[in-house]
Amino acid sequence: METIYTRIALQNKIQQLKQQNTVIGFVPTMGFLHDGHLSLIDEARKICDVVIVSIFVNPLQFGPNEDFNNYPRALERDLKLCTNRGVDLVFAPPAEELIAQETLVVLNVSQLGTNLCGKSRPNHFQGVCAIVNKLFNLVQPNYAFFGQKDIQQFKIIERMVNDLFIPVKLKMVKTVRNSDGLALSSRNKYLSVEQRQHALIVPQVIAFIVSQIVKLRESQSQLTQEQQEILLGQVKDMVAKIPDSRVDYMEIVSSNNLQYTEDIKQELIIAAAIFIGSTRLIDNHILSAKSCEDTFIGK
Ligand code: PAF
Repeated sequence: METIYTRIALQNKIQQLKQQNTVIGFVPTMGFLHDGHLSLIDEARKICDVVIVSIFVNPLQFGPNEDFNNYPRALERDLKLCTNRGVDLVFAPPAEELIAQETLVVLNVSQLGTNLCGKSRPNHFQGVCAIVNKLFNLVQPNYAFFGQKDIQQFKIIERMVNDLFIPVKLKMVKTVRNSDGLALSSRNKYLSVEQRQHALIVPQVIAFIVSQIVKLRESQSQLTQEQQEILLGQVKDMVAKIPDSRVDYMEIVSSNNLQYTEDIKQELIIAAAIFIGSTRLIDNHILSAKSCEDTFIGK
């Protein structure tokens, strides 16, 4: 496996690969890889000739009071994992390779970026798009792979690719979970043993909402604002019983536009962000249209 640290070396390499008509699969990451990332690599391996992983903790997507400085970093370990998983090339640039001192042209993310995670992380998706766009320009992948856990990120990048005519096909890969249902995340590392146990409330509340909607769908096609408030209120009470926890958001949205909806027969996304101590955990479930049998795989 090759490791490249500079833009120029990457561009030279990509030029060679393009001359050979190589199908490039790209997995952008912030490192501290876990089985979720490895599943993205596996999906890329299935359909691409060459798999490229980027490892870059992107300062632009962290707010001023967020965990940029403490975000876990383990480059040597990540490189070993990538080698063992059959990755061909890792791009691990220092910040100055990707972020100029002064940036004049920025991408603005409207509607899709203002609700769910965008409410408490106002510039987050703008920072994600800034870096993913640059990475797409450098790597020029045929396919890029992202996890469903960050479904809002996926939808926004999908929109960016459409709006800016970026020639890449996006693939969303299912969230990987521990056997007790907790979605894998690099941030799980922050949890104490006790908090790790408390964190199970995240998949549990999503499972609860999913089961309620599945039941309601049998007899009704609309869920009024009042009914949603009652349902989400029940769930907030469940979270309130967990020590040192706080709901950031919990929502039932249309999977088309990630906006509030009362039409529960369409494909829905049940999404939540919950703080366990100071660790903010997110998770979601895609509830396919009309299905009455769908259950959430988290316990
Ligand atoms: O999902 C992530 O790890 C990051 O948001 C990404 C896509 C690598 C951009 O920094």
